[in-house]
Amino acid sequence: MLKQLCTRRTAIQGGLAGLLSTLGTAPNISWALAPSKLPGFESVPANLDDLIHIPKDYDYQVLNRWGDPVGDHRGMPAFKPDATNSAEEQALQAGMHHDGMHFFPFPGKAADHGLLVINHEYTDEWLLHAEPPGPTNNSLERVRKSQHAVGVSIIEVKRRGNRWTQILPSPYARRIHANTPIQIGGPARGAAAMRTLLDPEGVRVMGTLANCAMGVTPWGTYLTCEENFHGYFGGKINGGLQIDANHTRYGTLPGGQWVNWLEHDSRFDMNQHPNEANRFGWVVEIDPWDPSSTPIKRTALGRKRQESATCTLTSDGRVVVYMGDDSRFEYIYKFVSKDKVKPGGYKANAQLLDEGTLYAARFHADGRGEWMALVQGQGPLQADFGFATQADVLIKARLAAQAMQATPMDRPEWIAVHPETKEVFATLSNNVQRGQIGKPPTDAPNPRAVNRGGHILRWREAGADPGATQFKWEHFALAGDPKQPNSGTKYPQVDNDAFACPDGLHFDRNGLLWIQTDIPGQAMGQGAYKNLGANGIYCTNLQTGQIKRFLTGPKGSEITGCLLTEDARNMFVNIQHPGEASEDAQGKNTSHWPDGTQTPGARPRSATVVIRRKDGGVIGS
Ligand code: FEO
Ligand code: CA
Ligand code: CA
Ligand code: CA
Repeated sequence: MLKQLCTRRTAIQGGLAGLLSTLGTAPNISWALAPSKLPGFESVPANLDDLIHIPKDYDYQVLNRWGDPVGDHRGMPAFKPDATNSAEEQALQAGMHHDGMHFFPFPGKAADHGLLVINHEYTDEWLLHAEPPGPTNNSLERVRKSQHAVGVSIIEVKRRGNRWTQILPSPYARRIHANTPIQIGGPARGAAAMRTLLDPEGVRVMGTLANCAMGVTPWGTYLTCEENFHGYFGGKINGGLQIDANHTRYGTLPGGQWVNWLEHDSRFDMNQHPNEANRFGWVVEIDPWDPSSTPIKRTALGRKRQESATCTLTSDGRVVVYMGDDSRFEYIYKFVSKDKVKPGGYKANAQLLDEGTLYAARFHADGRGEWMALVQGQGPLQADFGFATQADVLIKARLAAQAMQATPMDRPEWIAVHPETKEVFATLSNNVQRGQIGKPPTDAPNPRAVNRGGHILRWREAGADPGATQFKWEHFALAGDPKQPNSGTKYPQVDNDAFACPDGLHFDRNGLLWIQTDIPGQAMGQGAYKNLGANGIYCTNLQTGQIKRFLTGPKGSEITGCLLTEDARNMFVNIQHPGEASEDAQGKNTSHWPDGTQTPGARPRSATVVIRRKDGGVIGS
């Protein structure tokens, strides 16, 4: 993820419960799950060119690019390569910066036909508009186009043989963006801090944005996570806003905007609408099957710079949502519902994410861990300390987790739960401030100062029950380039396939773990990252510890959203921001992926690609 949206040009900026008892401080875990012959492909070498590289037995196709029509019945405007599409047209086209994603198959069509739901994390204002941004070059039309390019796309896709196509138009096609009406659910609904001039009851907010990673509920809805929402809020410094600990901790501060929406949309001006920022930073539930349904912000899950919302079930059938808060020194969370999941789909479970307990993780040095409940009235979460209601606890979840002494982590990103063993894996992307003067020191779970490589933690909940409040953890990998001096890396087994800045994580049906990376575009191929090439996908067999590079992306891109269909024969993956930090001396982007082969000089476009084995076989075999 690109932390400084506007700095690019510097102008602005299972069955294995028995094994639990053997877990010690440094357990040597092995699973008899994925057959040891996997992964069977030949590793792809590190690359820094403008292409996708995958193993020789595989093919890929580009399925859905920024600006492609979603197939909405209201219209399907074609993409204009000079970026002259209007705001109105952008609202009917795929957004920018594809990130988390899920494939929802039609019944009985597990790998052939379904809905693809895609997050659009943020915009590149230089690529989005025909004219670059500038202090005198802003307008309501430009702001609206930008607002329509974030959010979520829902498209219908179908496979014939080895080829996927998008169904146009489709009754399911839908864009959700920064101006789509969204309900507020859970304990913060109607709270004083959620009320604004435009929504005096605090029950309805316009839009979702900064949609990064995701989750899928057991009842078949999609969860989109609002990550860097603070970058849209700001305004005049000393303009009247009472800056409190909440605004400071979340970075929703005058002058803090990354994108200048507030000049033409005053609800992003903190001085005029101080509570609007409290209405972002949530997990949003979307019913992909009903295009007329209103998405709901599920406030019981807590407010943070939401990365993932990975769902699993407790032993007694309640839903658990694991979540990362992607900032330096922030926390890992989980939510456990009060009630059990019922048969009957979304209708039967529509309130399930509104009631339950939110926890933040505390990692002890001896390999134990515990989940600290964030419940108003317990411990320091009292009115005297700013937590008069549960809504206060949830809106200020970071402050509540800190009060409960959760462990500050090195940028928690995606979380994946092994489908059989329920063991949990979490990526910590990097943290160059760890151990620096005035910043938290190294600790057992975050053991490296100036952590450029990032790491992956794994833990097992007591009794293999995701509802437990105790767990045992260890490092799965301390990532980075082992060939660098003092790298401090540790891999199960890596050969020439070392990686850095782990971000996306996905388990397939065979128990293979697919790790995706996010080295910042500005740093790719340089310094600590010089031998690691572009971002990619790394396939891991947890039984053997072997890690193999499966894909490398075009220059400047992050690889994210990777998922395999139930039969493991189709991989959907998002190529985000090809060409990030790839401008030449004239400021022209040197990435032309994916359209450059047909249209020389084309502007780069984030896109979903589909990968299959040429023989239609199982991916990874
Ligand atoms: Fe949007 Fe933390 O990645
Ligand atoms: Ca990114
Ligand atoms: Ca990231
Ligand atoms: Ca991410």
